[in-house]
Amino acid sequence: MDNTIRILGIAGSLRQASYNRGTLRAAAELVPEGAAIEIFELDGIPGFNQDEERNPPAKVAQLKRKIRESDAILFVTPEYNYSVPGVLKNAIDWASRPYGDNAWDGKPAAIMGASTGAIATARAQYHLRQMMVFLNMFPVNQPEVMIGHAAERFDDEGNLTDDATKDFIRQLLQNLVEWTRRIQPPNEQTGSDSKAEVAKALE
Ligand SMILES: Cc1cc2nc3c(=O)[nH]c(=O)nc-3n(C[C@H](O)[C@H](O)[C@H](O)COP(=O)(O)O)c2cc1C
Repeated sequence: MDNTIRILGIAGSLRQASYNRGTLRAAAELVPEGAAIEIFELDGIPGFNQDEERNPPAKVAQLKRKIRESDAILFVTPEYNYSVPGVLKNAIDWASRPYGDNAWDGKPAAIMGASTGAIATARAQYHLRQMMVFLNMFPVNQPEVMIGHAAERFDDEGNLTDDATKDFIRQLLQNLVEWTRRIQPPNEQTGSDSKAEVAKALE
């Protein structure tokens, strides 16, 4: 029986050698046994237009489907002007609409972020946590993976090279998987033993 925890990973940067996209690639390799990360790239999503929210662009429809198919979400956010980049906020807004059709609803989540500065995306991460209140998402609290001075921890292609940072990422992913298993209703665990047990009990 496949009870893999499926995590959808979204990085809030389109930059080729992005530290945050590199962090997400590293996370996909550091994910614990029993879980898998699928990366969703945000390129090609147009600016949100409420006139289109009931008939969204194909890429947005795909994003909403991927969110709903996943058991948990992993956000990796840069910090732009003390908040999350527009490209990430835009995707969050699209997938939250129309009212009553919020794809993020009820999803466990984890947040990481990398910055060239010393504050290491803390302000952006707390803005993202604030959004999660209205989105009704359930973020893991710790460890807070805030990667500062990124130029010292990544190579020129944006690949993470710092072992201590990898350990933090490993721990956050472990906590996300445990948290997801704890808060997921047994009858919604995709293809899980619990689901089979519920089906058996209803026979
Ligand atoms: C428009 C803009 C605003 C930025 N604002 C911040 C900021 O508020 N805090 C910060 O630590 N870094 C800031 N930076 C620097 C980013 O941390 C840096 O560009 C980082 O590499 C972006 O992430 P990426 O490598 O994943 O693209 C800003 C960069 C840009 C382009």
